[in-house]
Amino acid sequence: MLPRGLTAALIAAAAQRGLAYFGASLDARQSSEEPFSPPYYPAPNGGWVSTWAEAYEKAHSVVSNLTLAEKVNLTTGTGIFMGPCAGQTGSVPRLGIPSLCLHDSPLGVRNTDHNTAFPAGITVGATFDKSLMYERGVGLGEEARGKGVNVLLGPSVGPMGRKPRGGRNWEGFGFDPVLQGVGAAQTIKGMQSTGAIACIKHLIGNEQEMHRMSSVVTQGYSSNIDDRTLHEFYLWPFAEGVRAEVGSVMIAYNDVNKSACSQNSKLINGILKDELGFQGFVVTDWLAHLGGVSSALAGLDMDMPGDGPIPLLGNSYWGYELSRSILNGTVPVDRLNDMVTRILAAWFKMGQDQDYPLPNFSSNTEDERGLLYPGALFSPVGIVNQYVDVQADHDITARVIARDAITLLKNEGDLLPLRVNDSLKVFGTDAGPDPQGLNSCTDKGCNRGVLTMGWGSGTSKLPYLITPQEAIANITPTAEFYITDSFPSSIEANDEDIAIVFINSDSGENYITVDGNPGDRTASGLHAWHNGDGLVKAAAERFSQVVVVIHTVGPIILEEWVDLDPVKAVLVAHLPGQEAGYSLTDVLFGDYSPSGHLPYTIPREEANYPSSVGLLQQPFGQIQDYYTEGIYIDYRHFLKENITPRYPFGHGLSYTTFEFSEPTVSVVTPLDSAYPPSRSAKGSAPTYPTTIPPASEAAWPASFDRIWRYIYPYLDNPQADAAVANSTNKYAYPDGYTTEPKPPPRAGGAEGGNPALWDVAFSIQVTVTNTGKRPGRAVAQLYVELPESIGLDTPSRQLRQFEKTGILEAGASETLMLGITRKDVSVWDVMVQDWKTVVGGEGVKVYIGESVVDLKVECEVGGRCSIL
Ligand code: BGC
Repeated sequence: MLPRGLTAALIAAAAQRGLAYFGASLDARQSSEEPFSPPYYPAPNGGWVSTWAEAYEKAHSVVSNLTLAEKVNLTTGTGIFMGPCAGQTGSVPRLGIPSLCLHDSPLGVRNTDHNTAFPAGITVGATFDKSLMYERGVGLGEEARGKGVNVLLGPSVGPMGRKPRGGRNWEGFGFDPVLQGVGAAQTIKGMQSTGAIACIKHLIGNEQEMHRMSSVVTQGYSSNIDDRTLHEFYLWPFAEGVRAEVGSVMIAYNDVNKSACSQNSKLINGILKDELGFQGFVVTDWLAHLGGVSSALAGLDMDMPGDGPIPLLGNSYWGYELSRSILNGTVPVDRLNDMVTRILAAWFKMGQDQDYPLPNFSSNTEDERGLLYPGALFSPVGIVNQYVDVQADHDITARVIARDAITLLKNEGDLLPLRVNDSLKVFGTDAGPDPQGLNSCTDKGCNRGVLTMGWGSGTSKLPYLITPQEAIANITPTAEFYITDSFPSSIEANDEDIAIVFINSDSGENYITVDGNPGDRTASGLHAWHNGDGLVKAAAERFSQVVVVIHTVGPIILEEWVDLDPVKAVLVAHLPGQEAGYSLTDVLFGDYSPSGHLPYTIPREEANYPSSVGLLQQPFGQIQDYYTEGIYIDYRHFLKENITPRYPFGHGLSYTTFEFSEPTVSVVTPLDSAYPPSRSAKGSAPTYPTTIPPASEAAWPASFDRIWRYIYPYLDNPQADAAVANSTNKYAYPDGYTTEPKPPPRAGGAEGGNPALWDVAFSIQVTVTNTGKRPGRAVAQLYVELPESIGLDTPSRQLRQFEKTGILEAGASETLMLGITRKDVSVWDVMVQDWKTVVGGEGVKVYIGESVVDLKVECEVGGRCSIL
C-alpha cells in the first residue's frame, strides 16, 4: 500500500490530468494540460428508465429473435445513395421491420416536393415563443411521417454560435444554451408527438465548417473544451433534448479533446449515456465513422450512411465487419444487442410499428420513376416519387413564426408601420425572386433573391415563395421596385418618399462554396453580401427616410450606415422560409407589431469578440481549437469585458410599449443543500444471453440477389471468422477498456441528469401591461446572476427562462409565471462532478428584462422584487 500522502498526491495528479479537459481542475480553462479525453467503458445499456420500459420490452422480444446478420443490418446504413433518403438502415423483413429512413432537415423535409419550407431555427429562436417552437416541431414531424421519414435529422443545437462566422449557426435557435435548449426540447416534443423520431445534432463542438471532417488524407479539428464549459454551455441544450426524450443523437465530425466524437468513449458512454441517461440511439454524422470496433465500444449505435473511408465502394467499418467482430469475440455480443435494442426501442416508443408509412419520395431525383439504388452502377428501376402532399395547413405556422420573429432594431420617429398609401421605393435583390428559378441551386447553394434559409443539408426546397416584392406590391400597387444591388443613379426622391432597402448575409455547410465562402463566412465576414452596405448608404444619400430589412444567418455589422440620419428603421427578418413576403408585410404595414428579439448580440465590429472565436485554418496537421474563452460567449463576453454592442442580445422593439409591474418571487422547492439530493438507483435493463451466435447466422442466404456496392451484414466465410475467436492474435483494446460497469454517475439518474436539477426552486410572477396605443406581444426574459459565494467566476447575467404574452390590446395586461430550476442557479463542479448551487439561493439575483441590458425588474431570491 502506498503512503497516504503519496496516494492523495497521485489521485490529485490523476484528477488534474484525466479531468482537466473532460473533468476536474476547478478552473480548468487556465490549465496548461494537453487536451485529453479519458477512457470510459463499457457502454451503458439502455432500458432502465421507466418511461421507456414498454418500448424496451417490445424491442427486447424482437431482438431476442434476431439473427446476427439481422441485428447488424439495423445498425448499418446500406451505403450512400443506396435508397431514397440521406441514409437508410438494412431491414428485417421476416419480422416486419423496414429499412429505416434517416433524412434531413431541421427546417423541412429536404430535397422533395409538396413539403413546407419552415423558417430556420434561428428564426424560431427569435420568436422567443415556446408554443410556436412546438407547433413547428409538430409540422416537421407530420411532414416527415407523411413522406415516410423515420428519423428526421434535427433539431440542431451544435454549433452554438461560438464563432459568429461559423457556417451553420442559423440551423440552431440562438447563441445561448437556454434558448437552444428550449428550442430543441419543444421541437423534439412536437416532432415526436407525430411518431417521427427526432435526431438532436451535432454532439459536440462542431463550431466551424472548415476542417470539420477527418478522412484518409486529413484530420478534423479538435475542439478542446474544458469540463465546466462543456457542461454549462455546449452540453446544456443536449441535456434538455435528452430530457425531452429525444429518440436519437447525431455525433459531430470533429474531435473533442483529441478524440473523434464518433468513437469518444467519454463523450458517448460517459456523458451522453451514463450521466445524461440517454435511452435512444447514437448515430454518426454522414461519413464520420472512423473505426469499427473502437466506435462500437465507445457507444456508437448506428453508422450512417454505412460507407467506410472511401464512399461508394461497398466497404464499411460495420456491416459485414461488425458481424466479423462479433464472431471473433472482439465486440461483446452484449454491445450489439444494446445497439439494436436502442434503435428498436426508439422505433417502438414513437409507435412506428403501427402503420408508419414507407418512404414515398426520392431525394435523388424529381422523376416519378428512377433508380432504386442510384449508388449502384446497375440498379433496378421503379416508382420512386409519389409526390405526396404533406403540407396541410403548415403554411399558417410558417407565416406566424416568420412574422413573430421579425426583430425591430430601430424605429426613429415611428416611421414604421407604413401606411398603404405611402410612396415606397424598394431596393435590393434580396426583395425579389431568384431570377434563375425557385429552387435553382442544389441545397440552396447560391444567394439570389430573398434569402429564405442558409445552404447545405439543413435546407428544404421551397414549394412556393411569396417574395417581399410580391407581398408589398399586393398591398401598395404604387410601390416602385429596383431589384438590383447597384443603386440606380437616375432615382429622384421627394421628402415623402420612403426607401426600403433589402440586404442579406448568407452561410451554410462546407461541401458548397458560395461567393468564396466555404460554408463559414470567410470572404464576406460579418458584412452584408452583394454590396448591401453600399446600397443602404446610397439610398440614405437620396432619401430622407430609409427602412432597412435584413435577412441574415446571424450577426451582421451595421456600422457603415446604422447611425445615418435618414436610416430611421431597421428590421431583422432572419431566415423566413417560404412565407418571406407576407410575414414581412404583416409587420411593415402594422397588422401586427413586431415581437421578435435578437437571439444573438450584434457587435460594433468583429474585434468586439474574444480572439479565440475566430475561424481556424491550417493546411497540414490537426487544428487545435482551444475554448479558452470558456462560457463567455456572445452577451456573456460583452458584459464581462464591458463592451457596448450595437444591439444587445434579446433586443427587439415593438410598435407599442410595455410596463412590468407587481413582481413577486416565491420559494417552491427549497434549496436545502449545495448539491442535489442523491439520485435514485438505475432501473433494470433488458438482458440477453452473451454467447457468441453461430457463424451460420452471418452467412450469405442461399440464392441471394446482391446489389453491387450495397452494404450487407454477410460474410463469405463466417466459420473462419468465428475460429479467430480462439486465436491469440487479439485486438488491442483501448487503454482503460473494461467490461465491468462503472458506478452510476452522481449527476445522473434520469433522462437529462438527476431529476432534482429540474425542481423549480423559485418562481417569479410579473404582470405585463401594454402601455402604448397598438396591440402587441411582449417577451419577459429572465436572467440570473449568481453570487460570489458560488466560488467560481460566473457571467453577470445568464438567460434562464423566458415567456411571451399573447397579443395584448392597448391597456391590457397579462400575468406571467417564470420558474427557475435548481440547475438554473448552479455551476458545474468539476471536482465533485455534480451541479452545485448556493444553499437557500442566498445572494442569487434575478432580473426580468426586454433584453439582456434593458432590465425592468430585479428580485433577490428569497427576498423582495423591485421595479428598475
Ligand atoms: C451534416 C448533417 C446531415 C447529414 C446528412 C452531414 O453532412 O453535417 O447535419 O444531417 O450530412 O445529410
